[in-house]
Amino acid sequence: MLTVTLYSCQDTKTKSGQSEQVKNETVYAEFDADNNLIRPINYRSWVFAGTATTPKSHDPKAVFPDFQNVYIDPVGYAYWKKHGTWKEGTILVKELLRSGDTISSVGNGFFQGAHFELAAAVKDSKRFPDMHEGWNYFGYADFKKNKLNENSPPLGNQCASCHVQHAIDGDVFYQYYPVILAAKGYGDGNPENENTREGLVPYYKYKSPVVSPKPVIK
Ligand code: HEC
Repeated sequence: MLTVTLYSCQDTKTKSGQSEQVKNETVYAEFDADNNLIRPINYRSWVFAGTATTPKSHDPKAVFPDFQNVYIDPVGYAYWKKHGTWKEGTILVKELLRSGDTISSVGNGFFQGAHFELAAAVKDSKRFPDMHEGWNYFGYADFKKNKLNENSPPLGNQCASCHVQHAIDGDVFYQYYPVILAAKGYGDGNPENENTREGLVPYYKYKSPVVSPKPVIK
């Protein structure tokens, strides 16, 4: 049997008549009775956090080939923006893609190719009390059959060990996601608006690369 955990609905649970509508809009992390996370499907319409690029052709020892596109559910993102902390039930998805073309009209480089694996991280302190801040990890690829599974068991420390050690807060690698960095605890404002947010590189819109002044030799 499928049990659906409805975090973002908690505030409105008591308001009768709304639950069905809220449910349809806000179920992002769905578990079955065995704590398997059902494979998220519509994540490409969530908030795009960022892309990491570690092409095997550039570094054969790279842990993950080649591109990793990261998305966060909109409710988790809104809470992060307001409070600067992760809401229970927040889910981030990592879509892994092969490197595609390496030559293009703008130059030689790395361009995104086929999607071959999907991974997810969910914060659920009640379900996973032994995990750091309640975060657990999931992966969907069946490489033998060359397809994505419908659900994933919690993978626990085989994934968390690296996240706990190297992620900026021990859970999410948001040091690599400009969108998430800019939004952290922003409050009710609008860090998505390019004209009002403080860029990480001030004045980048108005000046070509900043050249540091040469030291004055006396
Ligand atoms: C050797 C270190 C390491 C291991 C092991 C690891 N990860 Fe990650 N993970 C990263 C890094 C670094 C990122 C940042 C984006 C990137 O480089 O792909 C990341 C990002 C993620 C993200 C996006 C959200 C976030 O936390 O930044 C998910 C989801 C994820 N990993 C799932 C997994 C799963 C599932 C496993 C286990 C199968 C796993 N990871 C194992 C290093 C690791």
